[in-house]
Amino acid sequence: NSCIRFLPTLDGKELVTVESLQAPDGMLHPVQRALVDCHGSQCGFCTPGFVMSLFALYLQRAAPTREEVLTALSGNLCRCTGYRPIIDAGECMGNYPEPARWSRADAQSATRTDQLRALRRTQSHDALRLPGFHTPRNLDELAAALAAAPGSLLLAGGTDVGLWATKQLRELPPIIYLGNVAELQQIRRSAVGLWIGAAVTLTAAWSALLEDYPALAEQARRFASPPVCNSGTLCGNIANGSPIGDSMPALIALGAELELRHGARQRRIPLERLYLGYQRKDLAPGELIVGVLVPPPRAAQWFASYKLAKRIDQDISAVCGAFAVEVSDGHIVSARLAYGGMAAIPARAPAAERAMTGQPWSEATIASATAA
Ligand SMILES: Cc1cc2nc3c(=O)[nH]c(=O)nc-3n(C[C@H](O)[C@H](O)[C@H](O)COP(=O)(O)OP(=O)(O)OC[C@H]3O[C@@H](n4cnc5c(N)ncnc54)[C@H](O)[C@@H]3O)c2cc1C
Ligand code: FES
Repeated sequence: NSCIRFLPTLDGKELVTVESLQAPDGMLHPVQRALVDCHGSQCGFCTPGFVMSLFALYLQRAAPTREEVLTALSGNLCRCTGYRPIIDAGECMGNYPEPARWSRADAQSATRTDQLRALRRTQSHDALRLPGFHTPRNLDELAAALAAAPGSLLLAGGTDVGLWATKQLRELPPIIYLGNVAELQQIRRSAVGLWIGAAVTLTAAWSALLEDYPALAEQARRFASPPVCNSGTLCGNIANGSPIGDSMPALIALGAELELRHGARQRRIPLERLYLGYQRKDLAPGELIVGVLVPPPRAAQWFASYKLAKRIDQDISAVCGAFAVEVSDGHIVSARLAYGGMAAIPARAPAAERAMTGQPWSEATIASATAA
């Protein structure tokens, strides 16, 4: 039960396992060769995972830096030995001759891209049909299906839901999967902000958010690991609504809004209004999040976001804090302070915000806001 990906979500995709890296003549892939040469082959549980994390990096970077190797391995936790030989392998795997199978050129070739494209089912009539697993192709179909069967479980990247099955052994209700809805895979920029659809992965969402808000860099880097971010979605993090979810404090501080849909009805709410109490949300049965809108940065805005956790990588936060403050002529025009891990829900700190608004931008003001 180590894999949290639901099998039907792989429809239309190519699954690459560790067994398929070796060439037909038995020649090891450069990633495998480097791990052997650097003595990085460790326990049988983790080594396939280390190989595949490095393989994903191998396809993206000809000569990865140590920092990139560390990021690629951030989701692979070793309990027995250590990381040094594995990191060494990651740093030198690019020095080996290109393999006959799974070279970078092969992975990115037009032939391969065409083959993958041909696997996709784009029309409603050819959608995968399995009992208990519905995969709508467009937003109208998704909204209608969920409204008609409000007891269904809406599945996005499955990085929370997968654990309900593998760790909690829960019997899940019929699933409606939103990952194939084209409208929800979009990221759009306009004068009112950055719109991120509900099927957009965390990797793509963080990358778009960083263009507007570089101060989110550490938050993005410390959110889970590349495989989890390549599957999980930003809206799934919001919808799951854990009080220690990482993205919400920053999005609330920035004034993000949610676009919701129930059947044919749409509405928009400020993100912080979604959370009514512990695991209670302003989301009717059969209603879904279509996307999140993040306002553009303002000229006089100062923004910062922090995550405190026991470990740097791959750890849930103890506390997250995000602060968006607008300062004009040395005075605070507006302040939005949002926290996770301080209450049953992600929430703003209204008393501290009031204590800051209209005051000079000074340490004394921060001290009085802290006391408030
Ligand atoms: C190894 C690991 C590390 C992790 N690290 C972090 C971390 O550092 N920080 C952090 O905050 N989280 C972390 N998570 C949790 C998880 O990855 C995030 O919460 C993720 O954003 C969930 O998105 P998803 O698409 O996978 O959601 P799913 O698992 O598909 O769904 C989660 C919940 O949201 C609901 N939902 C999903 N989309 C919608 C929608 N559009 N409308 C209404 N409801 C919806 C689902 O029904 C379900 O109840 C981690 C998880 C794992 C397995
Ligand atoms: S390699 Fe598996 S626990 Fe260390």
